[in-house]
Amino acid sequence: MGPAGDARVKIILPPELPASQITPEPVYRARRQLMGLGLASPLLALAGCAGADDGGDAAAPGAPAGAGAAGGGAEELTRFEDATSYNNFYEFGTAKTDPARYASSLEPAPWSVVVGGEAELTGTFPLEDLLAITAAQDRTYRLRCVEGWSMVIPWQGLPLGEVLRHFKPTSRAKYVAFTTLADPRQMPGLRYPSINWPYREGLRIDEAMHPLALLATGMYGKPLPNQNGAPLRLVVPWKYGFKSIKSIIRIDFTEAMPPTSWNQLQPEEYGFYSNVNPDVDHPRWSQRSERRIAGTASKLFAERIPTLPFNGYGEQVAGLYAGMDLRKWF
Ligand code: MTE
Repeated sequence: MGPAGDARVKIILPPELPASQITPEPVYRARRQLMGLGLASPLLALAGCAGADDGGDAAAPGAPAGAGAAGGGAEELTRFEDATSYNNFYEFGTAKTDPARYASSLEPAPWSVVVGGEAELTGTFPLEDLLAITAAQDRTYRLRCVEGWSMVIPWQGLPLGEVLRHFKPTSRAKYVAFTTLADPRQMPGLRYPSINWPYREGLRIDEAMHPLALLATGMYGKPLPNQNGAPLRLVVPWKYGFKSIKSIIRIDFTEAMPPTSWNQLQPEEYGFYSNVNPDVDHPRWSQRSERRIAGTASKLFAERIPTLPFNGYGEQVAGLYAGMDLRKWF
């Protein structure tokens, strides 16, 4: 149970996106008093997307699902402190606490994004130009990591499809590829070949155009913290968290399916699609449940809830995969 009733929010989906439904910033600040418990759980080396849940599972694995388990109901928000201190951003190290410790060296301004490939409008665009394409929206989304934990975060950002349409993709644009900054001066983790840098992700173009896909610029009413992917990251709520690429510097429209970092590294473990699917086990662990890090005083008490197909967004996105064998296209 969360510290306050006001921490429960409805998971908001378009078209109902009133900013007023997002819990105001003072509420997140008030939760600071709950910091300090159990935040230093031991971390496994290379436990990022390459390893199972990190052992913070004090909650019994069989614990009953919480009120927030069903799709679309009222769910508690993850505390700002947890969302910004328990991260995966391998460019700053592979431990969950590394991004918060080391990402201050990232310089999110000035920032520009190269748009290339199969589109009529290509080039290098200052971030400000991208932000002017369409109005920012508030979207509270669940995000589930393939490692077995999930968070509920109020994001601010631009609908990805609206941004992409601005560049007028040609009929040959079948996929969209995203690339993260790879600057060893700003990113100490690049010294280690944990990933074949730069970090890359991709979506099929109809997935990228789906109204739920967000190009996030902020969270909890503030600009994105560096550790969460400042100044621009993807949030694709029906896919495992690793598809949500951070600190994007390049967007390419491509005819061929683009390589993606985790798929390149471990193709048998991480497919291109990576839709949240409780029926498709990761080769080394089950994907049937998740530790919901939200509203609790400590991650140690996070409750285990059943994982939902497409992370609970099936009604909106299942049609994208009609006729596909999702065991094969995992
Ligand atoms: N983007 C980059 N560039 N580098 C990364 O290591 N990690 C991914 C994804 N985006 C990652 C990344 C993984 S594994 C997850 S679970 C999410 O970011 C975590 O986002 P969060 O730290 O904001 O919760």
